[in-house]
Amino acid sequence: MKISASTKLVGLIGHPIGHSMSPIIHNALYQRIGLDLIYLAFDIRPENLNNARIGIKALDLKGFNVTIPHKEAMIGLVDSLDPYAKKLGAINTVKVKDGQLIGYNTDGQGFIKSLKRKNISVKDKSIVIIGAGGAARSIAVYIGLEGPKEIRIVNRTYDRGKVLANLVNDLTGSYIASPASHIPDKSDIIVNTTSLGMWPNIKENPISDLSLSPQTIVCDIVYNPRMTAMLRQAERTGCQIVDGTGMLIGQALASVGIWTGKEVKDEYWQIMQEELDKL
Ligand code: ATR
Repeated sequence: MKISASTKLVGLIGHPIGHSMSPIIHNALYQRIGLDLIYLAFDIRPENLNNARIGIKALDLKGFNVTIPHKEAMIGLVDSLDPYAKKLGAINTVKVKDGQLIGYNTDGQGFIKSLKRKNISVKDKSIVIIGAGGAARSIAVYIGLEGPKEIRIVNRTYDRGKVLANLVNDLTGSYIASPASHIPDKSDIIVNTTSLGMWPNIKENPISDLSLSPQTIVCDIVYNPRMTAMLRQAERTGCQIVDGTGMLIGQALASVGIWTGKEVKDEYWQIMQEELDKL
């Protein structure tokens, strides 16, 4: 990697940060396509978030990603917000422009892109979203914008599912979303947005009690491990599956597009995917 005085810094802030794959996929891309950027991960404790913001402005980073636990707190620290990010109440990407911080949320777009790459459309489909946290919000809203038949939100805390369904209906101007107390037997696409199944709890599976239909497409946003217990069950049943590397890459490339203002080419996806395949 050639670093010179013109190289700009981008990165990730979160806590903890050691597990992140973002530096690997971003730097691999920058190196391969000759983008004069370097991506580093910064472990920022919540009490240091505001100092980090001041430092980022002073050092004139080009932009940065935001992960747990700062996705919501960072909303209050940026200078302006993309309208959807504002309504979602969480950001995962910040662009630094003329010393001002602009917040975006690329999780949902990234997820939709990962489906489209596999020729999966959510239009007119019955969708089940498991979870109602930050990731679920972005995914549910972006699915809602694509015109599904219905979105059922199944969450451990039912009322949180209700709040998310209301948000989707509000943002899409429709009544497609509703909370549900259990996963229905028949649905076209199921998406796990919770951390169930994530290492080290790899035996956890949010659909273990479900008699799954082979026609259902099963998606997980957990990417460590890539083949979660839920996806293994789905594969055994004969379902099409989408693993969490799709959303990881999709949101990363959407961030690159925001920072550089340039078109994100299809080949960039392949470069990041190859890097993850090596791990
Ligand atoms: P993120 O920003 O990663 O989505 P979050 O906002 O903390 O994280 O949301 C985590 C989601 O996973 C929530 O929907 C949570 O359910 P609750 O709303 O009931 O807290 C869900 N979740 C986390 N651990 C879970 C578990 N062990 N069983 C079921 N749901 C779980």
